[in-house]
Amino acid sequence: MTTTAPTTRVGEIFADVHAALLEIIVKHRVTWEEFRAATAWLTEAGQQDYEIPLMLDVFLSTAVDDLAHGAAEGTECNVEGPFYVAGAPVLERPYVLPRRDDEPGQKLVFSGTVRSTDGSPLAGATLDLWQANGIGEYSHFHPGVPEHNLRGRLNTDDAGRFEVETVVPVGYHVPLAGATGRLLAALGREGFRPCHLHLKVTHPNAVPLTTQIYFDHDPMIDSDVVGAVKPSLVTTLTTHNDGHGGSYATCSYDFVLPAS
Ligand code: BEZ
Ligand code: FE
Repeated sequence: MTTTAPTTRVGEIFADVHAALLEIIVKHRVTWEEFRAATAWLTEAGQQDYEIPLMLDVFLSTAVDDLAHGAAEGTECNVEGPFYVAGAPVLERPYVLPRRDDEPGQKLVFSGTVRSTDGSPLAGATLDLWQANGIGEYSHFHPGVPEHNLRGRLNTDDAGRFEVETVVPVGYHVPLAGATGRLLAALGREGFRPCHLHLKVTHPNAVPLTTQIYFDHDPMIDSDVVGAVKPSLVTTLTTHNDGHGGSYATCSYDFVLPAS
């Protein structure tokens, strides 16, 4: 085989990917049966909705995310994951994420601020929030959950504050029925994500942030299949009596965005 030094970024990266795969084939003396099984597994993944993005998110996305954050100041970023849907409803105050009357999950009031790295409040910042419900389901990905359920966009007030009512998300298994699930099972891995809220925080004068907020009460916080949990993104969930024999929870987070 004639080899010419690659001159483009895609050429350079592909050369390294190719060399790494060839080395693995030789190191493990991969057989034709194994090669055909890998081909069938990739074909299966390609034929299933969302399976390729899911697989890449589960196994590789945190490395890209760590590089993206670099030495930047402000709140740490975190992987977007495969369940983001653009165009979530723009909400009116008082903010309540769209949900069903019988939505599984304890009521949660999530509040906080959005500030610039110099400490000044970012008024009119947008928080695009999406999450799983109290049984680990995302709208648009779990059958029977209404469109845009637990997804919405809201703004900070003049002091950079926000408050939104929703439900406490619970941790969930990433979808296990497809090719990713087959691989996780073969590896003896659980495929679990601890409970979290997803957010995209934007402001015209700031660097956009995609991140997740985790909770310190969560016994599964150290068992993330994606390995995405960062200590700076963990907050505390406080439970309160609602005065009617029930309870609700609160949590808060203060986001910091570098100026653009
Ligand atoms: C998520 O939290 O939605 C997610 C992130 C990465 C991989 C799979 C799911
Ligand atoms: Fe998620």
